[in-house]
Amino acid sequence: MISKEEARKKIYHLREQIEKHNYNYYVLSQPVVSDFEYDFLMNDLMALEKMFPEFSDENSPTQRVGSDISSEFRQIEHKYPMLSLGNTYSEEELLEFDERVKKVIGENFEYVAELKYDGASINMTYINGKLRHAVTRGDGVRGDDVTSNVRTIRSIPLILKGNDIPKEFEIRGEILMFHDTFNKLNHEREAAGEPLFANPRNAASGALKIQNSSMVAKRNLDCFLYYIVGEGLPSETHYDNLQKAREWGFKVPQYIQKCSSMDAVFKFIELWNHKRKELPFNIDGIVVKVNSLKHQKQLGFTAKTPRWAIAFKFKAEQVTTRLVSIDFQVGRTGAVTPVANLEAVHLAGTIVKRASLHNADQIELHGVWIGDHVFVEKGGEIIPKVVGVDLSKRTPDCIPVQYIENCPECGTKLIRQEGEAKHFCPNESGCPPQIKGRIEHFISRKAMDIEGLGEETVELLYNEGLIRNIGDLYHLSISQLIPLERMGKKSAENIIKSIENSKQTPFERVLFALGIRYVGETVAKKLAKAIGSIDALKTSSSEDLKQVEEIGDKIAESIIYFFKDEKNLSVIENLKNAGVKLAVEENSTQLLSEKLKGLSILISGTFEKYSRDELKELIEKHGGKNTGSISSKTSFILAGENMGPAKLEKARKFGIRLVSEQEFLKMIE
Ligand code: IVH
Repeated sequence: MISKEEARKKIYHLREQIEKHNYNYYVLSQPVVSDFEYDFLMNDLMALEKMFPEFSDENSPTQRVGSDISSEFRQIEHKYPMLSLGNTYSEEELLEFDERVKKVIGENFEYVAELKYDGASINMTYINGKLRHAVTRGDGVRGDDVTSNVRTIRSIPLILKGNDIPKEFEIRGEILMFHDTFNKLNHEREAAGEPLFANPRNAASGALKIQNSSMVAKRNLDCFLYYIVGEGLPSETHYDNLQKAREWGFKVPQYIQKCSSMDAVFKFIELWNHKRKELPFNIDGIVVKVNSLKHQKQLGFTAKTPRWAIAFKFKAEQVTTRLVSIDFQVGRTGAVTPVANLEAVHLAGTIVKRASLHNADQIELHGVWIGDHVFVEKGGEIIPKVVGVDLSKRTPDCIPVQYIENCPECGTKLIRQEGEAKHFCPNESGCPPQIKGRIEHFISRKAMDIEGLGEETVELLYNEGLIRNIGDLYHLSISQLIPLERMGKKSAENIIKSIENSKQTPFERVLFALGIRYVGETVAKKLAKAIGSIDALKTSSSEDLKQVEEIGDKIAESIIYFFKDEKNLSVIENLKNAGVKLAVEENSTQLLSEKLKGLSILISGTFEKYSRDELKELIEKHGGKNTGSISSKTSFILAGENMGPAKLEKARKFGIRLVSEQEFLKMIE
């Protein structure tokens, strides 16, 4: 058996080695050991930490896998507000910026030009060389404490190395997702029938907000650093401080350049406007900063932006390609979207074969013909869009677009309501994509979250005639599923189990899952809280509904329309008989575990990770009881910093144990 002292030494040594390998792999992209050797060291460390929990440390590389504890994020105020940058798209405005700078600091100075990484900004505080917390931008004044998620990003050092590290400083950067990770993630989501991310930026900021850091760890995020703030920084220039930060272990990209004139800045812009297509991540422009911190101070800030920096934004990346044909897609609500099939082309990190043409008006506006060369651009949406036509390339074999009059799926005559840009198929209950779309929405993660059932399985079940509406899901049996293509016994069992579990979904989510037009997640929550049950909702008048916050004519009308339809009523009857929750539960605080059952716990002091209210809630959710005063019946005190001396004395008198926040979280893990 290894002695405690030996274990301590070995643990420290292993941590150092593993972090060095992390740095080589995630920051330098130059691994020096095989995955096998790396895993071997990691397993060794995990085993030792398990044997000697007294040496556990949140900065250990083993903790980078995250934890399953769900938590709402607490808010942290930024010590220095997180401002944004002034934007420009034109060279003239950039020259005007240069003029303004020169007016204040004269002619003798230097700029630094950097890439403008397109991700989610993050502000990290390091104290005594260790990561203290990581906070999102939020409203600039305060943001979400996402430290536990950020800890899982391997290129972010938890403990710094090297010299000249200020006692306390903040470092800001961009959390990014690289193209290959993004494409892989969206592929997986598509296969699982989950909604796709529109772009890597959304995927990165979405990942940061996941309430379970072990899931964040799997998202493979990265972080580029671009700005240090604090007292006692090692150098008087921005550029040198960033070089130092690189020595401390941060990933400071090499794409950064000192420029002694605006000409050099323009050259940098020109270079990256071309080369950005080759980068494995997205950038949306260039940032120009005055290099000297003294000059930066002289220039100062406006209310929203620094006067010493500016962002030059690139125009959205555009390509031209040939439009081969047009498909007309019918969505869950019956809305028809024309989608262009294109000759495959590279655009902002992905290969594009399809692009939206939005609606009949847009086709007419752009004057698009089949066979034309069209301009394609990526906007904020998942699918790129056609934004124009290169008429100079039109050939005689191009033909004008005939907009369809009947639904391509069920043949019903399309309608176009006044004020609506889109055509609709009115055959709600007989049009296959509308039926399948409603079922897919019902089972999706934010609705009933029925795992194992994706778009493909719904398609199979529908084609086999096994489901025609959401109520039918609850009559499926394992023996009906097994014969389906690519379905094993195990998957069939899992699906049926998951359908069974979905009966526990709270009413507000069931209400959202029903797919009533305009009843999104928030509206469903408000309706469930105010009205209480499906039966009450069914008989609510428009006036009743409009009493509820956020509900106006349009939503009220849609709800009434939904409950007028006999078919919907019979589906609801079906769900009711299956045991799906169609009313708010009396006692809706569900226990997460019974780990604190029978314990009476007092909270005292201030805490790092959670607020006192959040801790109180956690105690209750794990079966414990909160107590307001110390007595012999108190099981333990959850003690934070600055616990009052009187309470400490009383605790000692009764011999009551003090438990730290970290220990407590371990208890309920
Ligand atoms: S400097 C006080 N440098 O752009 C100046 N920002 O619109 C702090 N960004 O919120 C920002 N790359 O998220 C800076 N090289 C870079 C950047 C950068 C991306 C983002 C950042 C900021 C936004 C400003």
